[in-house]
Amino acid sequence: MDESTHEGPPSRRAFLSHSLTAGAGLAALGSAGPGVAEARAVVADPPETLPISLTVNGRRRTLRVDPRTSLLDTLRKDLGLTGPKKGCGQGACGACTVLVDGGRILSCLTFAVMFAGTEVTTVEGLADGDRLHPVQQAFIDHDGFQCGFCTSGQVVSAVGLLGENPRPSREEIRELMSGNICRCAAYPNIVDAVESAAKGR
Ligand code: FES
Ligand code: FES
Repeated sequence: MDESTHEGPPSRRAFLSHSLTAGAGLAALGSAGPGVAEARAVVADPPETLPISLTVNGRRRTLRVDPRTSLLDTLRKDLGLTGPKKGCGQGACGACTVLVDGGRILSCLTFAVMFAGTEVTTVEGLADGDRLHPVQQAFIDHDGFQCGFCTSGQVVSAVGLLGENPRPSREEIRELMSGNICRCAAYPNIVDAVESAAKGR
């Protein structure tokens, strides 16, 4: 039977034949020229570390980082700032939220080398000495947490939110905090806390 003309799903032999042809094409492309060779060299031998300098919680920090390291891992492992948490590591929970130049980001989804020259704020940088940030105090006053695992991300996110929108409605608070997941479901109290902090501003 002619493998190339029969109707219905391709036979195993035809599939293997097409695969081998495609493989040969890729092999030929791989030897096509110096551009491919250079790209392969970069992938095979990336620089081990790069120097970066950034300000974290008001303090200038200069360090060398693996360019593949997330900002979250750099903060936690290199700088000892364990306030930002690795809840999911893939952008779904908000536990790793930090501020960069005042804006909220998920530090698990970004490379540290992207933030050279920026100002990063973690939950550790919010209090003024012994005086808690108003949002931190509001979370305590309104029982905005139970286990506390999500709380540093919630608090930092709320600080960023109030920077974006100083007088949010309860609906806006719910919407703008929706990227921060709380497995304990402390949501009503979190909204109370953010609303209270906004009114106190
Ligand atoms: S740890 Fe970054 S979003 Fe979950
Ligand atoms: S307080 Fe437990 S996950 Fe939010």
